[in-house]
Amino acid sequence: MSRSDFSADARIVWRLLRGRPRGDSHAERLEAFYAPQAAHYDAFRARLLHGRAELITALNIPAAARIVELGCGTGANLEFLRAGKRSLADYAAIQLVDLCPALLAVARRRARGHANVEVIEADAQTWRPRHAADCVILSYALSMMPDWRATLGNAWDMLAPGGRLGIVDFHLPDNDARISNRFWRHWFAHDGVHLSEHYLPALRALSSNFFIQQRRAPIPYLPMLRAPYYLYVGHKPL
Ligand SMILES: C[S@@+](CC[C@H](N)C(=O)[O-])C[C@H]1O[C@@H](n2cnc3c(N)ncnc32)[C@H](O)[C@@H]1O
Repeated sequence: MSRSDFSADARIVWRLLRGRPRGDSHAERLEAFYAPQAAHYDAFRARLLHGRAELITALNIPAAARIVELGCGTGANLEFLRAGKRSLADYAAIQLVDLCPALLAVARRRARGHANVEVIEADAQTWRPRHAADCVILSYALSMMPDWRATLGNAWDMLAPGGRLGIVDFHLPDNDARISNRFWRHWFAHDGVHLSEHYLPALRALSSNFFIQQRRAPIPYLPMLRAPYYLYVGHKPL
């Protein structure tokens, strides 16, 4: 790792250690937290937010699909949507929604030149697309929403019949030791990420056609720790 990569990492780790700043609204708090990290967000999060490429592969999104990502951040998942034989032009529309202008600025640069990719500043808890979506993605975003049940309900409601919902995120496994769960709950809450054992039961209740994988991910600079996360793909009935 070069010296400049290391100092970029150090700035992000410092921001994470300081925790999420105060602010009057959720949007202001997100901006204050992410704006100083935006330029190096992708490089650091590539080592923290695991399973995003696997989620997109597992979703098996058909060509010509209308895709929505809620809480898209810098639009990093565009790289996975165009992996393999796919190009972004294969999809009918990709709408990237987030509340944080600093991260959306990076997403807009990424989307430049792709007429079917729209970057939208809005609250994922209430925003609705004009057309029903064939696929909705929430990648490490549900756990940052003040009302995650409202966001999940909104995501499910905007799906067309037969559409698919894909989620990858940190959580608390329901069969885990209480001490471990307490540790992870406090660790993530410091940065505005709310871990819960209620995500998976809520997802299982949405549809009988789903799969869930529970996993553990390494944390940069803390090789002893492995944070619990899950992958979910659910199909809305026709
Ligand atoms: C950990 S980041 C993940 C970003 C991206 N999905 C990824 O995988 O790299 C969580 C994102 O959720 C966004 N977010 C949090 N609350 C939101 C809300 N109510 N509406 C829209 N976006 C929100 C944050 O601004 C941030 O970009």
